[in-house]
Amino acid sequence: MDLYCVMGNPVEHSKSPWIHARFAELTGQELHYGKRLIPLDGFATAVRAFIDEGGRGCNITVPFKFEAAALATQTSERATLARACNVLSFQGGGIFADNTDGAGLVNDIQRNAGVDLSGRHLLLIGAGGAGAGVLGPLLQARPASITVANRTLSKAQDLVARHAALASLQKTELLAQDLQGLAGNFDVIVNATASSLSGAGVPVTARTLKPGALAYDMMYGPAAQGFMSWAREHGATPRDGLGMLVEQAAEAFRIWRGVLPPSQQVLAELRTVMGPS
Ligand code: ATR
Repeated sequence: MDLYCVMGNPVEHSKSPWIHARFAELTGQELHYGKRLIPLDGFATAVRAFIDEGGRGCNITVPFKFEAAALATQTSERATLARACNVLSFQGGGIFADNTDGAGLVNDIQRNAGVDLSGRHLLLIGAGGAGAGVLGPLLQARPASITVANRTLSKAQDLVARHAALASLQKTELLAQDLQGLAGNFDVIVNATASSLSGAGVPVTARTLKPGALAYDMMYGPAAQGFMSWAREHGATPRDGLGMLVEQAAEAFRIWRGVLPPSQQVLAELRTVMGPS
C-alpha cells in the first residue's frame, strides 16, 4: 500500500487524514494516509525515516513549512516564491517540494464561492508564512490590485518586492501598507494573520469592506468565528478557510496520484461532519 502522511507539531487535530481517505475512496485509489507528530528539532530525520519506510509523499504543516522547502532537492516555482512548502513528493531518491496553499485558496474563492478575482481589488492582511504562501497564486488570478497589509510594514514590503516581477507580468498593481494606513474599500479581503489565535480581534477597520465584499479567513472552526461575525455585521460575505484546506489537499492528491478528486463533494461532507460554522 502506498504511504502518505501529514507531518506537523501540533498535528492531532489535522483533518488531512480524513480528507485524503475520502479522496482515495472516491477515486478508487489504494493508499494509506496517517499523521505524524514530529519533534521540533527532528524534521529532517523524520522525513528520511518516512522515505526509508516507503513513504511516497507527505503534507507539511506548522511549523515545518520553511524547513521542508529548504530540505528539498527540487522545488516548484510557487514554493520557491513562497519560500515555504506544504507538499513533499519522494521519487528516485529525490525530494520534490511544492506549495498548493495558494492554489487551494484561489480555487475555493473562484470555484466554490463563485467570486472571479480577475480585475478585482484585493486586500491581503498578513505577511507571515500564511500570507507568503498565497500571494503568487493570487497574482496568477490577475486581479486589478493587491494590497498587502501587515502590522510590521517591512515584512509586507519584503513580500511585495519578492513578487514585483510576477505582478508586473500579470499587470496587477501590488502595494505594501501598514494596518493603520489602510484606506479604500476592497472587493475581496483575505485574513492571513494569526491575530485571532491571540484573541486580538480583527486587525483592520471595516472601511476596508465594500458592501457585499468577500471577507475570507484562512482559518476555520472557532478561530475564524470572530472575523466572520465582524464581516457579517459590516455587510460583507464571510467565508472560512475550510474550502482552502480541502482544495490544497486536492492539489496535493493530484500531484501524488495524477487524479483530481471531487473536492466540492468532500468539502460538503466535511462541513456536515464538523457542524455549522
Ligand atoms: P503564519 O505562518 O501563520 O503566517 P507567522 O509567520 O508568525 O505565522 O505570521 C503571523 C502573521 O500574523 C504576521 O503577519 C503577523 O504580523 P507581524 O508580521 O507584524 O508579526 C500577524 N499578526 C499576528 N498577531 C497579530 C495581531 N495581534 N494583529 C495584527 N497582526 C498580527
